[in-house]
Amino acid sequence: MNIILTGASRGIGYSTALSLCKYSIQNLVLISRNADALKKLKAECNEINKEVNITIISGDLTVMTKKADLFYERLPFNQLDILINNAGYLVRKPFKEMTDADIIHMFDMNAVTPSIFVRMLLNYLMVSPSSHVVNIGSMAGFQGNSKLPGLSYYSASKAALASITECLAIEYKDTTVHFNCLALGAVQTEMLKEVFPEYKSAISSLEIGKYIAEFALNGHKYFNGRIIPVATSNP
Ligand SMILES: NC(=O)c1ccc[n+]([C@@H]2O[C@H](COP(=O)([O-])OP(=O)(O)OC[C@H]3O[C@@H](n4cnc5c(N)ncnc54)[C@H](OP(=O)(O)O)[C@@H]3O)[C@@H](O)[C@H]2O)c1
Repeated sequence: MNIILTGASRGIGYSTALSLCKYSIQNLVLISRNADALKKLKAECNEINKEVNITIISGDLTVMTKKADLFYERLPFNQLDILINNAGYLVRKPFKEMTDADIIHMFDMNAVTPSIFVRMLLNYLMVSPSSHVVNIGSMAGFQGNSKLPGLSYYSASKAALASITECLAIEYKDTTVHFNCLALGAVQTEMLKEVFPEYKSAISSLEIGKYIAEFALNGHKYFNGRIIPVATSNP
């Protein structure tokens, strides 16, 4: 089993990596800009399971997706079984105060870059007998869910990611690749603390990391092209 996980340096991604290591996997590629955090994570993962070969790729995903050849050179495999597009970006501001840069970077990180990453890795995913792309969405972008003020473009960018997931599942339905999107509710992470300091979520990143790891490994047997709400409240 070969896995790529983006946004692994903290929060949900960090916890997902720790959970993935409890399973019998061969290769886990961890991506984010913070190389030191990834090194620490690698050591913790290998304490859990020394059999997992962990590759760190540190850098900005928005740049990495523009230099595909350099990225391929660093991959320790030719077949990818699971891609977890977890890295994301959130700016909370009133609509009128959102800058062009805020808007563009949110759409880039939350929808454009994850989809380009899928495109870059399609040939690797298609040679797996059964592969799974898990896009980490948000209840903020889940159709019909109550929306929160200040999250207009975050919600819209996560809705775009959800929609891309549905489209890819149709376009690649005759291949071995499955696509799903987990629309997460609030999870207690650094991101949540920075953006909603007044709010405390009852869900820890360790709990949700365990759920994402299990879903990434098994969810494609039961779902394809689904946007799955992972929340008990609205919003
Ligand atoms: N926490 C919540 O309540 C919640 C709820 C719903 C959905 N989500 C979604 O769940 C995912 C993880 O959330 P989180 O709370 O764990 O967020 P977080 O603590 O802010 O972590 C985000 C991760 O993305 C990485 N990242 C950001 N920009 C990057 C870039 N340009 N290149 C490479 N890596 C980049 C960060 O690493 P570096 O800074 O090291 O690059 C970090 O590892 C996000 O997609 C978020 O939208 C979170």
